[in-house]
Amino acid sequence: MSENKSKLAININGVSKNFGTVQAVKNLDLQIDAGTVFGFLGPNGSGKSTTMKMIMGLIKPNSGNLNVYGIDVTANPWDVKKIVGYVPESPRLYDFLTGLEYLDFIADVYGLDAHTKKTRIDEYLEAFDLENRENEMISGYSHGMQQKIAIIAALLHKPKLLILDEPLSGLDPKSARIVKDLIHKLTSEGVTTILSTHVLEIADAVCDKMAILYQGTKLAEGTPSQLRKESKMPDSTLEDIFLKLTGTNDIKDIVQALGK
Ligand SMILES: Nc1ncnc2c1ncn2[C@@H]1O[C@H](COP(=O)(O)OP(=O)(O)O)[C@@H](O)[C@H]1O
Ligand SMILES: [Mg+2]
Repeated sequence: MSENKSKLAININGVSKNFGTVQAVKNLDLQIDAGTVFGFLGPNGSGKSTTMKMIMGLIKPNSGNLNVYGIDVTANPWDVKKIVGYVPESPRLYDFLTGLEYLDFIADVYGLDAHTKKTRIDEYLEAFDLENRENEMISGYSHGMQQKIAIIAALLHKPKLLILDEPLSGLDPKSARIVKDLIHKLTSEGVTTILSTHVLEIADAVCDKMAILYQGTKLAEGTPSQLRKESKMPDSTLEDIFLKLTGTNDIKDIVQALGK
């Protein structure tokens, strides 16, 4: 039992979050093993971003407990942020800094020494195909370039947990490929990654395990193949399973929501 616990990156028990009358997350239980890629899958408004923000201590739950690598998030939100890298949905950077100035600033916030800072920034700029563009203003970067700078900024302090909210949305195929490869590389180094997506193929391709969220509730959880088996639709696509689990016949609405 204690051995199992030490391998958990995330332990969430009975977590709920309301915004006024909106129940964004309802009584969520979730355990995520360290060194794995976990996906939150669900249409817009299903509680994915809210759950991610609670995991890193940006917003507090109304009830329940969240534990990250043994740290109680509500009691120690500061300690959690030191080991987490977070890329929000559509991150906003500082338009009038260059990419390099922005990364330099973030590295200083994390207290990296000059050598470590330079080594890591150079390494990631190259990996993300951004070398020779780092001295241009962020305002002139494409959406994909800004997304990549935001991901680099989240990695500079070598987090144990990476939280990516809709990381591939709006990325061109080459950038998406770089991000997918990066996630695999980080996993091989023992990093835990949580990502959200409403694109089912992404979850299938990248995640070891996933939870399907719908209206703040976890409908199902498992590896892609477990989900196929449990839904008794072994040959089906994740989309078929999702439609079955949400119990809706109004396929058009869901497909539209998923495509947003
Ligand atoms: N800061 C907030 N204030 C009010 N309502 C919010 C806030 N954040 C999220 N919500 C609501 O909570 C629900 C879940 O939102 P969210 O977690 O962003 O879903 P998802 O990321 O799956 O699209 C939605 O109904 C959303 O409108
Ligand atoms: Mg969201």
